[in-house]
Amino acid sequence: MNHKGLIVYKSRTGFTRKYAELAGKETGSRVVDYKRASPELMSEYDTVVFGSRAHAGRIDGYQKAKEMFQKSGAKQFAVFVTGATPNTEKQVIQDFWKQNLTSGELQKIPHFYMQSGLRYEDMSFTDKLMMRGLRTMLKRKKDKSDEEKRMERMIAGSYDISSEEYAKPLISFLKG
Ligand SMILES: Cc1cc2nc3c(=O)[nH]c(=O)nc-3n(C[C@H](O)[C@H](O)[C@H](O)COP(=O)(O)O)c2cc1C
Repeated sequence: MNHKGLIVYKSRTGFTRKYAELAGKETGSRVVDYKRASPELMSEYDTVVFGSRAHAGRIDGYQKAKEMFQKSGAKQFAVFVTGATPNTEKQVIQDFWKQNLTSGELQKIPHFYMQSGLRYEDMSFTDKLMMRGLRTMLKRKKDKSDEEKRMERMIAGSYDISSEEYAKPLISFLKG
């Protein structure tokens, strides 16, 4: 059994990978792309962290990663998520966790949120289409709420609001 952690990440445009690599470097944890993850690999570690992106209100790949962890027999599972929502939006982030984790999981699974940004140039075709749909919908909407106005501004183009600072809670957790 390896007492260092394993960080499995799923990343399309690079934000999640960057945070995973930072946490790996700071804690000596092994960092692996989810495509190369398996229950066998996870079984070699006490702690397995799954990092992914927020995708239309969901944690991309969460169920699969959780199933792998459950098969593995590793002791502790934790999750981190990157997203365009700023860390200051505490209520939005809390609602996000409630939508994705059961009340039991909220207690049992340490979970961390890290603001990132948007990188249109590296998005998949489908993601670009989804973002275009959202932009059009918001543009046409009358009587926009403050939240909708904020979102309209934020999704207009690429930006990076990630910072090493947001990885600190995960790093502290991994350092035990
Ligand atoms: C189609 C789509 C949906 C998204 N949905 C959300 C969301 O619900 N909440 C959020 O905070 N960010 C959302 N984002 C922003 C991504 O979560 C953010 O860019 C993330 O850090 C990307 O991770 P990656 O670079 O590792 O792929 C969305 C982005 C796309 C393209």
